[in-house]
Amino acid sequence: MIPLSVAQVAEATGARLADVPDPGVLVTGPVVIDSREAMPGSLFVALPGTRTDGHEFAGAALASGAVAVLAARPVGGPALIVPDVQAALGKLARAVIDRAPRLTVIGITGSAGKTTTKDLAAQLIETLGPTVAPRNSFNNEIGHPLTVLKITAQTRYLISELSARGPGHITELCRIAPPQIGVVLCVGHAHAGEFGGLERTAEAKGELPAALPADGVAVLNADDHRVMAMAARTRARVVTFGRSPGADVRAAEVSTDELGRARFRLETPDGSAPVRLQLHGEHHVHNALAAAALAGQLGMPAADIAAGLSAAVTRSRWRMEVTQLSDGVTIINDAYNANPDTVRAAISALATMASGRRGFAVLGHMTELGDDSDRLHEEVGAAAARAGLAGLIVVGEQAAPILAGAKAVPAWQGELLSVPDALAAVRAVTDRLRAGDVVLVKASHSIGLERVAMALTGERPLDAEAAVAGEHKGSHYRGTLS
Ligand SMILES: Nc1ncnc2c1ncn2[C@@H]1O[C@H](COP(=O)(O)OP(=O)(O)OP(=O)(O)O)[C@@H](O)[C@H]1O
Ligand SMILES: [Mg+2]
Repeated sequence: MIPLSVAQVAEATGARLADVPDPGVLVTGPVVIDSREAMPGSLFVALPGTRTDGHEFAGAALASGAVAVLAARPVGGPALIVPDVQAALGKLARAVIDRAPRLTVIGITGSAGKTTTKDLAAQLIETLGPTVAPRNSFNNEIGHPLTVLKITAQTRYLISELSARGPGHITELCRIAPPQIGVVLCVGHAHAGEFGGLERTAEAKGELPAALPADGVAVLNADDHRVMAMAARTRARVVTFGRSPGADVRAAEVSTDELGRARFRLETPDGSAPVRLQLHGEHHVHNALAAAALAGQLGMPAADIAAGLSAAVTRSRWRMEVTQLSDGVTIINDAYNANPDTVRAAISALATMASGRRGFAVLGHMTELGDDSDRLHEEVGAAAARAGLAGLIVVGEQAAPILAGAKAVPAWQGELLSVPDALAAVRAVTDRLRAGDVVLVKASHSIGLERVAMALTGERPLDAEAAVAGEHKGSHYRGTLS
């Protein structure tokens, strides 16, 4: 981070110092919420986790060299005391941003594809100058400021992933790190239950273009009318991307190879060049175009963008992660998260990859879909059936409507199976697998179906689960960062 003294941190956060022998001592980072990541120069942020309280780990963080603890109460060592630790974290991040005048802040939001686009954009923008991008999916009121606090005096670009589960969230994240360029990917069903419908979701995502300055750039998806409508909510210049012929940055002649990887000609106002993505699934074309539009705005030539996109790999796990086993079986671990839009995209990629082969989908519950949840699950089941898969394995009681939806497609000849849990799913798939089969595994994050995929690839046997849970002992923060 850009170094600040404990006194400066106190000023930025409105904190009262407790047990601080020398307020002049510098916090050089990293700022951490997990005591195991504390080291000399660190600031430990004592957050209430979902299961334990960060304050209990303050001593451990200080013992590892943390300079002080940002806390809600005295911790028996150097502390900055504030009434609301999370709010103070945001204020500290803003103070660091204010000390980085040469920095360009980029915000990416949308219902799906934020992390993928962030990872693609980072691989392009890193070639232009020192870049900080979030770890995994650090995109909320905790992960976002923690990412901001990674910048140094040398950092030129900060790529931030901005998530919203309701109105006002993105506005708040933009207050912490005011973006110069904002990308909106799509408006879809993610967290639809919490938002209360797609129009409300659009309203919330639109807070990003609304936060941009007049000399900023709003990068909008030309193929999503709810995103395009956001052009009316921004003072910034609008640049569009998509498959629509009118988009400023376009993909032409899109095709996919046998592993579902897209090829297309990238067309930009500054020229065109061929792209061959390493990512699986045609839906990633939009994410690639968004990253391309972004890099173009930062002055990257079209040929370099195309070459960079073609070389880019997934940096975050369990998103269309494809493993080819020695017996010719292909496992697609897309279990990072799920909503109706992303499940449909994954099924379509599975169908492409399984052409001439047998395709199986292992699907679990999609959370946070609100009143329409059953219907949306049924539609996903129907989509799986219509994709002509050899088998659909539905995991868990909650996912039963997927089963019902698939049953309602009489023309489908495949095998339909319901299993109670992840272990049963692994057994069901293993019993059926033959050389050449392709298996997709997908559900919402909390269902934990990545364990099924990792068991199938041999990365981690499922009965080792208890041991893995034990590995996390000592971490105080168990809330979600995404
Ligand atoms: N444009 C898209 N359309 C449909 N599915 C998509 C699209 N982009 C990404 N996905 C799928 O959505 C899932 C999540 O991708 P990713 O992690 O990039 O999204 P995210 O927006 O960061 O999600 P989160 O809100 O959980 O942080 C993956 O399964 C990915 O394949
Ligand atoms: Mg994400």
